[in-house]
Amino acid sequence: MRDLPLSKVYQLLEPGPVVLLTTAIKGRANVMAMSWHMMVEFTPPLVACIVSNVDYSFAALRSTKECVIAIPSRKLARKVVSIGSCSGQDVDKFKRFGLMAVPAKCVAAPLVAECFANLECKIANTRLVNQYNLFILEVVKAWVDATQKNPKTIHHHGYGEFVVDGRRIKLQTRMP
Ligand SMILES: Cc1cc2nc3c(=O)[nH]c(=O)nc-3n(C[C@H](O)[C@H](O)[C@H](O)COP(=O)(O)O)c2cc1C
Repeated sequence: MRDLPLSKVYQLLEPGPVVLLTTAIKGRANVMAMSWHMMVEFTPPLVACIVSNVDYSFAALRSTKECVIAIPSRKLARKVVSIGSCSGQDVDKFKRFGLMAVPAKCVAAPLVAECFANLECKIANTRLVNQYNLFILEVVKAWVDATQKNPKTIHHHGYGEFVVDGRRIKLQTRMP
């Protein structure tokens, strides 16, 4: 994994890929799938995420105030859906799904070696957690795996339908 400037984080999350969110509490790591997220601020990168309070990850995220957002490519699609269909309360998902947990630099939650990008996050704001399970996260460190060339992200259309990122086109825009 090599450093990614924080100014480039936005390009990873702007298209709304399905991501993995890792947490760690009392030495035990967990991972869930997440698609309800959006950019809130460009720099420092702030991300709004819904982590339901029925998820095992919720308590770990709320009490440790940190996590990793790991971005999988389409090769991991089936695994990602399986990860999002069982709970860390019952199973060690890193072990069950053969994921390699790599120590992060700024947070206790692990990076996921198989993902092409990993974003270390700390909670920036919890004002809407009680009402909407909505956490505002600040990305404090970002990594990319340069060996994964042109990774294609997975996008959730609901009810078991997904699309894989397609052809890129370039257009003039005022957005950075
Ligand atoms: C494609 C996909 C997207 C998901 N997105 C979210 C999400 O944005 N927020 C959420 O709370 N759960 C989401 N889930 C459900 C959680 O991943 C699922 O409840 C998971 O089992 C929670 O794991 P945990 O109990 O170990 O924390 C999603 C699941 C899938 C398959």
